[in-house]
Amino acid sequence: MTAVAYRVLAPALLFLAGMAAGEEPRLYDRLGGGAGVAAIAAALIDRVSADPMLSRSFKDSKLDRIKKLLAEQICDLSGGPCRYSGDSMKQVHAGHHISEAEFYGMVADLREILKQRHVSQAATNQLLRLLAPMKRDVVEPARSAAR
Ligand code: HEM
Repeated sequence: MTAVAYRVLAPALLFLAGMAAGEEPRLYDRLGGGAGVAAIAAALIDRVSADPMLSRSFKDSKLDRIKKLLAEQICDLSGGPCRYSGDSMKQVHAGHHISEAEFYGMVADLREILKQRHVSQAATNQLLRLLAPMKRDVVEPARSAAR
């Protein structure tokens, strides 16, 4: 077997062996593996940065860097072979004053993208459950008028 054929067949055989053993495929695989995760991250950043309701905080940002790091983070979270190498969610989003409405706007865009890519409802919910705890580090509470 050529090295190329091996690289293609080995993961496929491992995947089938897992299925035969009754294991759930990893979330990473249900998102489409490396190519799927990269496409999801890129589509999400393209969409939010072009959406008049959500684009505000992205205007001075390097979109390619965010796409790459978001893909790495989703790969890591979903059981894929990556380790997130970016900064903490708190550091990265500090000062952008991201509101809860903007957070949920991004979640809605992510849901739409996953639906278009035929990711199942169960896998979609699983990914959203992994992202939800980050809300407290992304969203900055509105400054109260009393202060
Ligand atoms: C769970 C939800 C979110 C995740 C997982 C996430 C993830 C990320 C990642 C991985 C980066 C790049 C990190 C780095 O540069 O080291 C980033 C940057 C950024 N994100 Fe998010 N993000 C989330 C929500 C949001 C929301 C709701 C907004 C605004 C609507 C937003 C706006 C930004 C901006 C503007 C940057 C660039 C920051 C800068 O360069 O100063 N993010 N995000």
